[in-house]
Amino acid sequence: MATSDSPTRKALRYTGKAKEVYDTDQPGLVWIHFTDGATAFNGVKKATIADKGRVNAAISAHIFERLEAAGVPTHLVATPGPLDHVCHEVEIIPVEVVVRNVAAGGLSKRLGIEEGTVLPRPLVEFFYKSDELNDPLITHDIALMMGWAEAWELAYLEHAALEVNDFLRDFWGEFELDLIDFKLEFGRATAPGQRGRILLADEITPDGSRLWERGTRRRFDKDVFRRDLGDLGDTYRALFARVFGQDLPAATGA
Ligand code: C5P
Repeated sequence: MATSDSPTRKALRYTGKAKEVYDTDQPGLVWIHFTDGATAFNGVKKATIADKGRVNAAISAHIFERLEAAGVPTHLVATPGPLDHVCHEVEIIPVEVVVRNVAAGGLSKRLGIEEGTVLPRPLVEFFYKSDELNDPLITHDIALMMGWAEAWELAYLEHAALEVNDFLRDFWGEFELDLIDFKLEFGRATAPGQRGRILLADEITPDGSRLWERGTRRRFDKDVFRRDLGDLGDTYRALFARVFGQDLPAATGA
């Protein structure tokens, strides 16, 4: 629930690969700041890509607002600036949920399916969120055995991920983009009135999705960086222009 006073950013809590998380002056709310950092292969390849933070922050906020309106609870509360999201504090469930519509990347490698092969139905996969272990693929039973999530939570994650997939396929389709696959993270809300409620967390951006232009298969996602297919900044600015119908405003330098 949004609060009447806008929260203020306080101490840095955590620095991630493309985001920083800060405390706020309001209990139960955190401040997430998007950066221009780009990493691939679990941090082995690194760069700074001008404008990436603003494109990702804007796209993720737009999608989260639309999902919330469609009945999928998310952590997003407010967008106080072009790089900033105020969010409900959550305890992240260490199970990353990947949904795939078309074979690519890890699935193609693992099963020997040619990239671009349309799957007979959307596939949901769980990965253990661990940089140390390189986010290994896990089963439902492993997640339960390790106590990473409860059975009802895994059922919810799968159901919500498929619902998000339905929404996102239409969303990206409006911009002539095919949604190949994407990753979601969920968390348990910590605020007293919300305790235990599962919220869609983290982000939905071209960093964690594969988006191929219909017909040409031009990549509009982080594979451009991972595979050296072109300029990631140009790609993300072009994606912004497609989604918002206008060019990304010039940076203010702030
Ligand atoms: O690498 P893989 O093919 O398994 O990735 C599937 C999807 O999940 C891709 O869209 C990728 O960007 C995303 N992903 C991610 N973070 C990870 C692993 C995958 O965002 N740690």
